[in-house]
Amino acid sequence: MSSLLIEGGKRLDGEITVQGAKNAVLPILAATVLSGGRNVVYNCPDLSDVSSTVEVLENLGCSVMRRGSILEVDSSNIDNCTIPDSLMRKMRSSIIFLGAIIARCREACVSMPGGCEIGQRPIDLHLKALRSLGIDITESHGYIHCKADKLIGAEIHLDFPSVGATENVMLAACMADGITTLENAAREPEIVDLQNFLNRMGAKISGGGGSVIKIEGVSRLYGIEHNIMPDRIVAGTYLVCAAATRGQIVLNGADSSHMSAVLNLLSDMGCKVWREKNRIALCADKRTIAPPCIKTMPYPGFPTDIQSPFMALTAISEGTSVFVENIFENRYQHVDELIRMGADIRVDGRCAVVIGKDRLCGAHVEAKELRGGAALVVAALAAEGRSIIDNIKYIDRGYEHIEKYLSLCGASITRRE
Ligand code: UD1
Repeated sequence: MSSLLIEGGKRLDGEITVQGAKNAVLPILAATVLSGGRNVVYNCPDLSDVSSTVEVLENLGCSVMRRGSILEVDSSNIDNCTIPDSLMRKMRSSIIFLGAIIARCREACVSMPGGCEIGQRPIDLHLKALRSLGIDITESHGYIHCKADKLIGAEIHLDFPSVGATENVMLAACMADGITTLENAAREPEIVDLQNFLNRMGAKISGGGGSVIKIEGVSRLYGIEHNIMPDRIVAGTYLVCAAATRGQIVLNGADSSHMSAVLNLLSDMGCKVWREKNRIALCADKRTIAPPCIKTMPYPGFPTDIQSPFMALTAISEGTSVFVENIFENRYQHVDELIRMGADIRVDGRCAVVIGKDRLCGAHVEAKELRGGAALVVAALAAEGRSIIDNIKYIDRGYEHIEKYLSLCGASITRRE
């Protein structure tokens, strides 16, 4: 088990180039299955979730080569349309392969997906939408079997703007017969990155980033080159680290247009924030002011993925904050660990009340899931004394070499295997 050792109380001061977005690279790698050719994907972060996705691609028969942050995927010789349980359990987003495999092979078999335990995470919206495209789906012995002689464009309405279900429909429908209209689609920037990737491959998709996406089916797609967008959640986390240590940071390559909810909140909390299209700077020379309420919402609302890092920041801000987690019902697993560090937090269902303390104390804590793990890093950087964070395999799922980037900015943080 790997751990992070953090000596807290050091002001962050430095520059970071933001990694490629995990939530963009995973569906885009799944989309390479559609082309039947060679794709080159740039700016792929070095994450365990990306390695798991590569394993899935290789299992399907793709040949994959990695050179630094460049992944070359050749999907010409796909000879398998099943993803075994051992791979599906590694991460939730493996379900995105369903749409891509069925579109390419007219047949797919995957087991129920795994991933971080942050809620029930059903896939009913995915399956209902895929059935609308003419796919016959049966579930047995923990596996989902899909078959379709042909996929047919349809009018689909999602009951909730699920990111994964939106991506699955885009992947499946881009090679269907006729036009698919997807209403109440997720509007996350990663959907736009997927749309751009698919359109470069020859798909005809419009409306990504809005609530209605139109997908005109085409008969063939081609291998292409693509650069993954920057990770807005990782960027937000590093800004919060700087704010929590009353430091300053410049994020190169970060797209401020994707981050309004987070940047506005940091300004409201008293940080000075400078935004350019591809660069963000933050300076926090005073204790931050607790915002009265933070409610997570689908994009462009406040992202659920950055709720926990902000909770660590409010734990040392001046005043009281109420959090309302509207997306995942079990996303407060970091709370007990923050309390070990001296935080004053009470949870009732989807609400949490955080009373800001003057300081937190270093402690031995454990990451329980990806973003909750990042919250512990924020708290440990700001706390007095030494912290040990165990189980950082969760953090490694989404943050590339977190100790390297934070050390560059003056943090005292080391990894212990
Ligand atoms: C994606 C992101 C994840 C982020 C989440 C919400 C990736 C790889 N992951 O996850 O980091 O936290 O969006 O922004 O992009 N739901 C159903 N039925 C379904 C599908 C979803 O009820 O079939 C519910 C979920 O339980 C959850 C909500 O819809 O309550 C949002 O989930 P969804 O947008 O699908 O999240 P993911 O795509 O899994």
